[in-house]
Amino acid sequence: MRENPLVLHVLGARPNFVKAAPVVRALGELGVRQGIIHTGQHYDALMSDVFFADLGLPEPVANLGVGSGSHAKQTAALLVGLEEVVLEHDPDLVVVYGDVNSTLAAILVCAKLGIPTAHVEAGLRSFDRGMPEEVNRIVTDSLSDLLFATSPDALSHLAAEGVPAGKVHLVGNPMIDSLFSALPALDPAPVVARLDIPARYAVATLHRPANVDTPEAAKELVSAVLDVARQIPIVVPIHPRGRTRLAEAGLVDGPSVKVIEPLGYVDFLSLVRGAALVVTDSGGVQEETTMLGVPCLTVRPNTERPITITHGTNRLVTPALLPAAAGKALSDGAATPSGELPPLWDGAAGPRIARVISAWLKGDNLSPAAQGVRSE
Ligand code: UD1
Ligand code: UDP
Repeated sequence: MRENPLVLHVLGARPNFVKAAPVVRALGELGVRQGIIHTGQHYDALMSDVFFADLGLPEPVANLGVGSGSHAKQTAALLVGLEEVVLEHDPDLVVVYGDVNSTLAAILVCAKLGIPTAHVEAGLRSFDRGMPEEVNRIVTDSLSDLLFATSPDALSHLAAEGVPAGKVHLVGNPMIDSLFSALPALDPAPVVARLDIPARYAVATLHRPANVDTPEAAKELVSAVLDVARQIPIVVPIHPRGRTRLAEAGLVDGPSVKVIEPLGYVDFLSLVRGAALVVTDSGGVQEETTMLGVPCLTVRPNTERPITITHGTNRLVTPALLPAAAGKALSDGAATPSGELPPLWDGAAGPRIARVISAWLKGDNLSPAAQGVRSE
């Protein structure tokens, strides 16, 4: 390995920023030279800038400004932009996060250039290849050199796909590190006052293509959300993907529905912390509600995060079953089946990842146990 090796983090979308912040901080504390490449997949201030501010992320060394498009157009632009910037910066390791198109593109570019890679949040599987994220996860894991898993189920998925166990490290969940860091600042009261909503309320975030991309799906979903709003006032910070279609399907401000712009990280989690119920199709929000002990109904047929059901407050529902499930959750409150939180979701995933990366950069082949992490 070269003197003073360089680590580049490729980030593009809202959840990437939340997962990367603890890793960047921990690598910084170890004195590792690093930089962030922002692909520009998300670009609105409320989908990007606010996260850099709330999470204390350093300015990117480059922003590719790739923006939106079909999967092919967006991924193609990502590939072209990333190849150029990776060649220019000549990193020793590229770290990618989660399952978005920016993740997939960075892994493909680095695999072709022969640049080593690390994947944070490896091994999650919904087993639903109709989800673009599932395709991104499978390809990313198959090409990564270091794989950081957030939950034990990921280890068996990776083993079943033939990933050598020595590449895989169970480190906990950096998204939960960010939540722990933000916790002292998470106060629902000012957000509730600003939004002028009652003290008992629900929050909904919905952006999966299967839920919001067709008028039919949007109509079914909105009708269910409006049924929930007859039981409890509901705030909907709206992801730009579904803005038009959900509004066309009838999701507009009303006596017990408040449709607002996406919220910044601290404001959003403050609102979630004080909520009686969360309705979502987000990956990250399933995890955050588990840690905050807030009942969560996920409007999806499956989840790549089953640990939020076995060790958390999450339940899967169809739109048709959502209103009744909401009624039950509102009367029962949150209960976790196992009574235990997911293992290693303790706020120390970032430092664990940083220790493995730092040792790897030095060419150390310390066993995972010696680095304070678990491997299969
Ligand atoms: C992407 C990820 C998804 C993740 C989500 C997090 C992929 C394939 N999908 O979905 O896994 O859960 O991010 O939020 O990578 N838009 C804006 N402003 C923005 C960004 C997007 O208006 O700053 C609108 C555009 O109309 C765009 C649409 O949102 O076409 C979708 O954006 P895109 O990045 O393609 O996918 P997401 O739905 O955001
Ligand atoms: N989030 C936010 N503001 C919002 C909605 C979500 O800050 O209005 C945060 C949420 O707390 C989590 C992350 O965004 O940390 C999840 O991103 P998203 O739901 O867009 O992506 P997914 O996790 O589904 O890939």
